[in-house]
Amino acid sequence: MNVKAIVYTSNTGYTARYAALLAEKTALPVYALDAALKQLPAGTPVLYLGWLMAGSVKGYRKAAKRFAVKAVCGVGLGDTGAQDEAVRKAHALSADFPVFTLQGGMDLNKLSGLYKFAIKMLTRAMAAQKNRTPGEDRMLALLQAGGDYVGPEHLTGVLAWLQA
Ligand SMILES: Cc1cc2nc3c(=O)[nH]c(=O)nc-3n(C[C@H](O)[C@H](O)[C@H](O)COP(=O)(O)O)c2cc1C
Repeated sequence: MNVKAIVYTSNTGYTARYAALLAEKTALPVYALDAALKQLPAGTPVLYLGWLMAGSVKGYRKAAKRFAVKAVCGVGLGDTGAQDEAVRKAHALSADFPVFTLQGGMDLNKLSGLYKFAIKMLTRAMAAQKNRTPGEDRMLALLQAGGDYVGPEHLTGVLAWLQA
């Protein structure tokens, strides 16, 4: 794929690690979004990664205004691939636009103020929810106990796309 850089937004580091893994595997330059906005020319074709917040990919809209985003990765709590369609819908992306959702992690100690509060509320709501799917059970366990799922095995799909 004709992508010139990897651009990302990360709050607690999981998305940054996926961006670094992709950079290592592809030899593409990698930038946090703030740095990319200063350093990369407008219209640069990029792969964009952002953490999932309330169903949206953080920073995607800002990135898409400046760069030619060719594919999006959303890093969240769900199983890798499980939220592709939800992300596509949240950002009104067409059916053929490449979207990859990757399982990241959760560490309450790395969250500050409002975000920590939001996660506590979400955990409480999910724990009270009846008829959870197995995927929701795994998400709840991750919310309750924390965990780190970042690993190269989650990047097969996006790497195949990058190398196509
Ligand atoms: C306020 C808040 C909202 C979140 N909303 C979602 C969500 O809608 N879906 C999801 O899968 N993960 C959600 N998460 C979890 C993060 O996306 C996940 O912890 C991710 O790995 C964080 O990546 P980062 O370390 O790059 O910031 C949320 C986290 C926070 C703090």
